[in-house]
Amino acid sequence: MAEELILQQGPKAEQYQNLMPQIQAIVEGESDVIANLANICAALKQQFDWLWIGFYLVKDDELVLGPFQGPIACTRIAKGRGVCGTAWQQQQVMIVPDVDQFPGHIACSSASKSEIVLPIMKNGVCLGVLDIDSDELDQFDEIDAAYLQQLILTIEKFI
Ligand code: SME
Repeated sequence: MAEELILQQGPKAEQYQNLMPQIQAIVEGESDVIANLANICAALKQQFDWLWIGFYLVKDDELVLGPFQGPIACTRIAKGRGVCGTAWQQQQVMIVPDVDQFPGHIACSSASKSEIVLPIMKNGVCLGVLDIDSDELDQFDEIDAAYLQQLILTIEKFI
């Protein structure tokens, strides 16, 4: 595995296109789930420098904080609570352009302004979510959802 990421400037679609094969190569050579999730957070942080990037994993019917990059965060989220708990309950991607407008949003950091959350599914069961927060409003759109969904498919193969 390459020890260094090659980063890309420019349109975000190109940034994703450059990054995704590198992430693929990193996780292909490793079977440990936590190690892979940790490196995925680090790779996304290095390329995009979003405020917070991390995983919550379902344990005993709660979302429990997993590998992440960014400020400390709440450790447990109930089903249906916040953006993460809603993505889990509804098993769908959530794009929140302004977190202050999302009823029940859980503010782990007051700097967070917009958010995207994608459920990780295996055999019809949600095993966790990928949560990304930005300190800018309206940071995430369908381009992010499409590329991050590709990443989720990669994760679903090893989780
Ligand atoms: N904002 C999330 C909670 C997790 S933190 O953003 C890291 C939510 O509403 O579910």
